[in-house]
Amino acid sequence: GKKEEAAPAPAAAPAADAAAKSEPLKVGFVYVSPIGDGGWTFQHELGRKAVQDKFGDKVATSFVESVAEGPDSERVMRDMAAQGSKLIFATSFGYQEYVQKLSPELPEVNFQHATGYKQSANSSTYDAKTFEGAYMAGIVAGAMSKTKTIGVVASVPIPEVVRNINSFVLGAQSVDPTIKAKVVWVNSWFSPPQEAEAATSLINGGVDVMYQNTNSPAVLKTAEERGVYAFGKDGDMSAYAPKAHLGSAVIDWAPYYTKVVQDALDGKVENGQNFWWGVKEGAMDLVKISDDVPQEIKDKVAEVRKGLKDGTFQIWKGPLKDNTGKELLADGQVADMPFITSIKFYVNGIEGNVPG
Ligand code: GUN
Repeated sequence: GKKEEAAPAPAAAPAADAAAKSEPLKVGFVYVSPIGDGGWTFQHELGRKAVQDKFGDKVATSFVESVAEGPDSERVMRDMAAQGSKLIFATSFGYQEYVQKLSPELPEVNFQHATGYKQSANSSTYDAKTFEGAYMAGIVAGAMSKTKTIGVVASVPIPEVVRNINSFVLGAQSVDPTIKAKVVWVNSWFSPPQEAEAATSLINGGVDVMYQNTNSPAVLKTAEERGVYAFGKDGDMSAYAPKAHLGSAVIDWAPYYTKVVQDALDGKVENGQNFWWGVKEGAMDLVKISDDVPQEIKDKVAEVRKGLKDGTFQIWKGPLKDNTGKELLADGQVADMPFITSIKFYVNGIEGNVPG
């Protein structure tokens, strides 16, 4: 027989439908450090607030802070999904395995994982080109170091961090090719006492300008106490060290977060992809450059910023040698994506070896 036509919708349906439509999209943010860290997580939190402000009652955002990169993150994300979050931003590298475990189990959720490299049918990865900020900071460092020895307090030895260390040093060497660099690893994203201790050991080793890939202003505060220079990273950290602060390499997550949430509201989130936004997309900049910095150096930063914006300047371009003298890029050779995303070496001038 003939199939029955679909029954007409019951009278209550249109109202229920309308109610469903006006229900806000729930969006969760998972943070590895406290929102008061002044850096990495503080900046994600500004991004969340920008989303909430822009979309108003169309979205209901929430966050959980200080979530360790382990089973805790899985529990927090499961909980967010159970409470109705349909979009979850997992904002630290070490959440990767948990996002990948949960995404097939929770197909109704779109996951966004910051700084990872694994994607799935309902997850994408995203990052800021933090190395562009590190390079611009390096230009300033190269001009300001009197000892010709700069230093980095490094967090977790993944390619992103090694790339940032190298970019900082390459920026410095673009001003003064004789610059040398030291690195101390703390193996953590957020551990202010250890960050401060590492900064102290760099200073005791002759370093007078520091950068860091950790989340707090501890390195900058240590620089202030010891009378040397340092930078803010991820957030504007100028207020933490008025004398020591040479500039802050700031990430603005708002453009990307706004895009993804708009896509989610439109029902067309782009999964299985990696989004890497930098100076060009308005996601990265070196801000609040100190008055101590000569105008010609500020001009050089401005030139590089412009070149990054219009695509005429390449940070990763030969001639490039590692610190054992091995040629990595020939003169004029521009690095490709696989090269840039898998950096495991130190460039010429950096002391020691990449851990692991
Ligand atoms: N988690 C906290 N801070 C960072 C960072 O700077 N990079 C990555 N990949 N993960 C983080």
